[in-house]
Amino acid sequence: MITCLAAAKVNLDLRVTGRRPDGYHELDSLVVFPAIGDLLTFEPASDLTLEIDGPRADVLEELSPEDNLVMRAAEALRAAAGVAQGARIGLTKNLPVAAGLGGGSADAAAALTGLSRLWGLTLDHSELLRIGLTLGADVPVCLKGSACYLTGIGEAIEVLEKLPPFWIVLVNPGIALPTPRVFAALDDRFSAARDPSKSYKSGGSREALIAALSASDNDLEAPAMSLVPQIAACIEELGRAPGCLLARMSGSGASCFGLFKTAEAAAAAAAAVQTAEPAWWVADGKVT
Ligand code: C5P
Repeated sequence: MITCLAAAKVNLDLRVTGRRPDGYHELDSLVVFPAIGDLLTFEPASDLTLEIDGPRADVLEELSPEDNLVMRAAEALRAAAGVAQGARIGLTKNLPVAAGLGGGSADAAAALTGLSRLWGLTLDHSELLRIGLTLGADVPVCLKGSACYLTGIGEAIEVLEKLPPFWIVLVNPGIALPTPRVFAALDDRFSAARDPSKSYKSGGSREALIAALSASDNDLEAPAMSLVPQIAACIEELGRAPGCLLARMSGSGASCFGLFKTAEAAAAAAAAVQTAEPAWWVADGKVT
């Protein structure tokens, strides 16, 4: 059996710099992938099947199979590579859905990677990225699965080789927030593209990273907060935890993150937030 972690995608900052004629928005964002995510398993089989379990399974089971990004990824890969075999795919859904953590995209990316291995395919990485982009704007970066700078609609990817180590706490107030609603609430208020001299450089210190991030923002935070006011409480809870270096919303929300210097500080913050807000989803892990 092949097992893949579909890690959450966290936008440490996010500028929306414009909108294309097709309605997609141009972005500028530093993303990381903590060791927190969904788990996918792949076994040989003649048919293509997907079984979903885990704490968030009920949300996905309401979708028809052809709307599930894992099945769409599997079908797209089969078509591109001319594969006749099937696979028995298992998905343990841990991440909240419609939460600004790219969970569906991470699952699709893990499906492309896991099935390529299961079927012994030798597609170029660039071909996998191309297939991924047909499934969603975030799928290519989830195929990289490590710290990246994104531009374009998220498909222009620069991998940051050496990010200083840090730990993250993720929280979600339990309210699903579809991405298109947040972009609509942004109302075409765009930021200037990032000044490269002020952005984080690969190989810098943790202090330099936090300084660069503090000078930046998530442009979707205010429109998302207008739809889900609890986001402010998430950021406040994280920000008051001892040792929190930065607290902000990820992606289009409503999930928020806090950054910490040590595993102990992150674990203590996660425990404190969970105690204060037992109904919230809270997780902590190392950033890779
Ligand atoms: O590509 P994906 O299906 O993940 O995007 C979901 C929705 O988010 C799009 O239909 C679009 O409304 C919005 N989006 C956007 N600009 C991006 C990414 C997503 O407007 N760069």
